[in-house]
Formats: sequence, C-alpha cells, structure tokens
Amino acid sequence: MARKKIIAGNWKMNMTPSEAVELVNTLKPLVATDEADVVFCVPAIDIIPAMEAAKGTNIEIGAENMYFEEKGAFTGEISPNMLTDAGVKYVIIGHSERREYFAETDETVNKKVLKAFEHNLTPIICCGESLTQREQGITIDWIRQQIKIAFLNVTAAQAATAVVAYEPIWAIGTGKTATTEQAQEVCKAIRECIGEIYDEATAEAIRIQYGGSVNAATAPELFSQPDIDGGLVGGAALKPDFGKIVNYK
Ligand code: 13P
Repeated sequence: MARKKIIAGNWKMNMTPSEAVELVNTLKPLVATDEADVVFCVPAIDIIPAMEAAKGTNIEIGAENMYFEEKGAFTGEISPNMLTDAGVKYVIIGHSERREYFAETDETVNKKVLKAFEHNLTPIICCGESLTQREQGITIDWIRQQIKIAFLNVTAAQAATAVVAYEPIWAIGTGKTATTEQAQEVCKAIRECIGEIYDEATAEAIRIQYGGSVNAATAPELFSQPDIDGGLVGGAALKPDFGKIVNYK
C-alpha cells in the first residue's frame, strides 16, 4: 500500500496563543486536502487554542517536545498525558535545536520515543548531520547510529507507525535546501536501516520526511522521491506558502 504523505509544520518558538488562532484560521482553507496528513506542531501554550481553531478541519495539532517521565517534580516540562488529554496525536522528538540548545542526546530521544508510544502518541523522530559531518563523508554512518539508538526497544508494530524526519542541520533555517538527490539518498538509507533492525514490511510502512528550508518551490520535487513521504517545515509553515507546500502536486 502506498504510504500517505505527512506534511508537518514546526512552528518552533513563534506565535503567541492569539497569533496561533489567527494563523490556524488563515491556513485552514489553504491546507484542506485528503491526500496528505497535515500536522501543525505548535508551542505547548498554543496547543489548546490551536486545537479549538482547527476543530472540524483536517489539521492535526502536534507538540514540539515532551518529557519522558509521567509526572512530578520536573519544573517546566510537559508530560505525555498532558498532550493526549489535550487531544494531541503527534510529537516532535529530538529536533536538532533541542539537541543543540537543550542538551538532548540520542539516549534521551530514545526514552522520549518509548514514552510517546506508551501513550499512543506518534513521534516525529528527528535526525540529521552537521555540515562538518557531511564534508567528512560520514553522513550515512551518523544517521544510522541516530536511528539505531532512537529505535532501541521499540517494537516493529510501533516503528511501522512512526515518522522520521531527516533534517540536515546545515539546511535548517539557512535557505540552503538539500538537493533532491542528497535528501533521497539519506531517506533511503534510513528506510534500509529500519529494514535491517526490523523487516521489509516495517521499512515499507514507516514514513520519512525531509526537513530543512523546504519551500513551495522545492517541495514538489522533494516530495516526489520514492523514499520521501512529506516534510517537516519550519519558517514556511508560518506563512500562506504552507498551503502550497501541502498541495505541492
Ligand atoms: P526551516 O524550514 O525553517 O529550515 O526549518 C526546518 C526545521 O527545523 C523543521 O523542523
């Protein structure tokens, strides 16, 4: 069966609650489609108002992060239960900005992934290499290691429902999109790695996104690649252009 595309916006630390409502209202007619799953991953404080504004539309509201404990003395963190109770189904895990600025590691990413599945949340698991790693020619090795650790103790049935976002760090927010060939090469390698960890069926089922300066001009070619099942979009997800990205065909 063909995989359904999944096109997600990562709003990062943008939009106040009232701005979030406005943006959902602006975008909802533009992203209406049955052909792809459309997810807006928004700041925690925007989840409930965005969810209200998106009611009755095809937009799913997701989170940008969560903690791997159930509850307790973890000041400032958001638990998986808080997300599910608010109606959230998707959560971004291990974005490179979380790794760089908030000391997340492959190990904490794995803990979060396991916790997300425990709560029936679909993790959007981020991986990606730095420019130095790409120049050293170790991109594929690096990504394979990130994937192997992220999926430790994850069952095949769970992995089949996961989303992986390949986001080369050098392409994030730089306007420097990876070439279609670069993006396809790594997304294919991720699928092969999942096939090695699990089996062919799991590799065929898992959805793999590309992220990093995706825009309305680059989306059509990227999303038409055999191993690219959509995108994780930063800057362009805050603009009407996101409608063009979602309807890239
Ligand atoms: P940009 O689309 O702004 O490059 O951000 C990509 C990203 O980090 C999405 O998670």
